[in-house]
Amino acid sequence: MGIIEAKIKEHKIIPVIAIEKMDDVLPLADSLTEGGLPLIEITFRTKIAPEAIKLLQKERPEMLIGAGTVLTNDELELAIDNGAAFGVAPGFNPKIVEEALKNNFFFMPGILTPSDLEAALSMGINVFKFFPAEAAGGVTYLKSLSAPYTHKNIQFIPTGGINIKNLKDYLNLDEVLAVGGTWLAKKAEIESGLWEMILEKCQTAKSLVSLNN
Ligand code: 3PG
Repeated sequence: MGIIEAKIKEHKIIPVIAIEKMDDVLPLADSLTEGGLPLIEITFRTKIAPEAIKLLQKERPEMLIGAGTVLTNDELELAIDNGAAFGVAPGFNPKIVEEALKNNFFFMPGILTPSDLEAALSMGINVFKFFPAEAAGGVTYLKSLSAPYTHKNIQFIPTGGINIKNLKDYLNLDEVLAVGGTWLAKKAEIESGLWEMILEKCQTAKSLVSLNN
């Protein structure tokens, strides 16, 4: 297991973030870190994503900083150039995976079916985002999906509908490396500067995960 994968496994929860204002980047990062989750996936759903990654890389280098919703090779390049440690996408796009591999960049494409999984696996990927986790059938579906491939040493990061109530159900599965989600810091909460609320949500999630160990 590589260093990035090991760090994700250690924290078990990836806060997935869509952020609009640069002024919110550091206060948000500090709320997550003080809440016990020094890692972040900044999604390319907002224009400032590359700049936000760069700022965090400079000002909070101790955090594990990733890029999310990477949908094109240009976005992949921006993620890498601005210092992201890992990349994630909701779906499996072989062009992006190929480019990530060329750059030796830790990238987790999204998969939902055996065909997606096998296509990504055949390119050398063994950590997948499982998206949209809950809508697709949740833990029951993930168990069935992964059953034929357990000998392939694959790991999943379920995202989509994960929250404080169901995260443990996913983390109890051996093949789940971590879960991801926006519930820890919703867009509206970031925009309203509810840093204390975000910090407390991280603490609650973290304490559940620690009990799980
Ligand atoms: C993602 O990009 O990982 C998902 O949009 C997260 O889904 P959620 O908002 O249900 O956590």
